Amino acid sequence: MKKKWNSFESKNKKNELPELKSSKKISNYSPIINKGGFFDTEFEEFNKIKEISQGAYGRVFLVEVKTRNITRKIASKLVFDQKKQIYKEIRLLKKIPKHENLIEFISLISINFHIYINFEYFEGDDIWSYMKKSNNFFSKCELIEVIYQLLSGINCLHTQNPGIIHCDIHPGNILYSNRRLKICDYGSCITSNFKKKPEEANYFFIAPELVLNEQNYSFGSDIYACGLIINLLIIFHYTGIVSLPFQYPNEYPFEYFVVMANISKYKIPNFPNDTDEHLKLFCEGILKSRPNERPSAFECIQMIDKMKQ
Ligand SMILES: Nc1ncnc2c1ncn2[C@@H]1O[C@H](COP(=O)(O)OP(=O)(O)OP(=O)(O)O)[C@@H](O)[C@H]1O
Ligand SMILES: [Mg+2]
Repeated sequence: MKKKWNSFESKNKKNELPELKSSKKISNYSPIINKGGFFDTEFEEFNKIKEISQGAYGRVFLVEVKTRNITRKIASKLVFDQKKQIYKEIRLLKKIPKHENLIEFISLISINFHIYINFEYFEGDDIWSYMKKSNNFFSKCELIEVIYQLLSGINCLHTQNPGIIHCDIHPGNILYSNRRLKICDYGSCITSNFKKKPEEANYFFIAPELVLNEQNYSFGSDIYACGLIINLLIIFHYTGIVSLPFQYPNEYPFEYFVVMANISKYKIPNFPNDTDEHLKLFCEGILKSRPNERPSAFECIQMIDKMKQ
C-alpha cells in the first residue's frame, strides 16, 4: 500500500490560472469516443473559470456551461490518464444516487481526447480547510447536524443495491458550506460485491483492519473513517483545534507511519473532558477495532436522531 497521507493538506489550490481566463467553447468533442454511448454531449459552451484543486489524479475546475441558452456553474474534473485512473473514476459514476449530501454526478465528456467528469458545483471548502479557516467553532446543534448529514450521505451509498462503499472518506473529500455537507470524490468507490484492499489510502482516516492489509474495504471501514471524522468534529466543537487522529512528523520514515497507524487501532479516541457523554459513547461505538462490532450508517442515523430530540 502506498501512502497518500496528507492529500487533503497538500492541495495546490489556485484562484486563477491566467491561461484559463479566455473562454473556451467546446466544439471538439471526440466523436470516436462518443460512439461508445457512454459520453454525454449536452453542453453548447464549456468555459473554464478557474482551477479549484489539483490532486494526484486530476484537476478540478469551476466551469460555466450553457445548455439551451441556460448558463450554470458546474465542477469539472479532468482525470489524468494514468494507471487506469480514468476507468477507476468512471466505472461507478452512473450508479451514484442523487442525495442532498452527495455531490451529484452530471455527465462525462471528452474534449480533445481528455476526459472531464462533470459534477454539481458546490460553493464551499472541504471541511478540513473550512475548520482550519473558521474562527467560529461549530455550535452543538451544528455539530449534530454535520454528523447527521455525513452519515446520511454514507447511508445512501451503503443502501444501494448492491451497496456502494466509498473507500476514501477523509476530510478532503467532504465539502461544507452554509451548514450543508456533501461527500465528493467517487474515484475509489466499489460495490460491496467487489473485494478491494487499499493500494493507496489516506492513512490518517483508514480503518485499522486495512492498515496491514488484513481485510478488504467494507461498509464498516467507511463507518470507521466517519468515526475518525466525527472525533475530529467533536474536538473542534469543544476546543477549536483541528487535529489529525495522530501525529506523523513529515521527515519520519514511512515505516514509522505504519507502526503509528497500527498502534492507533488500540488507542482510545481522544475527547475533550467536557464532551457530552452521549456523543462520546456514540463515537466510541463507531470506532470499534472489529468491523462487525461497528453500527451501520442507518443505526448511526437513528442514534443521532435521538440526540437531536
Ligand atoms: N463538485 C465540487 N464542487 C466544488 N469543489 C469540488 C467539487 N468536487 C471537488 N471539489 C474540490 O476539489 C478537491 C479535489 O476533488 P477530488 O477529491 O474529487 O479530486 P482528487 O483528484 O481525488 O483530489 P485529491 O487527490 O486531492 O483527493 C476537493 O477537495 C474539493 O476542494
Ligand atoms: Mg479526493
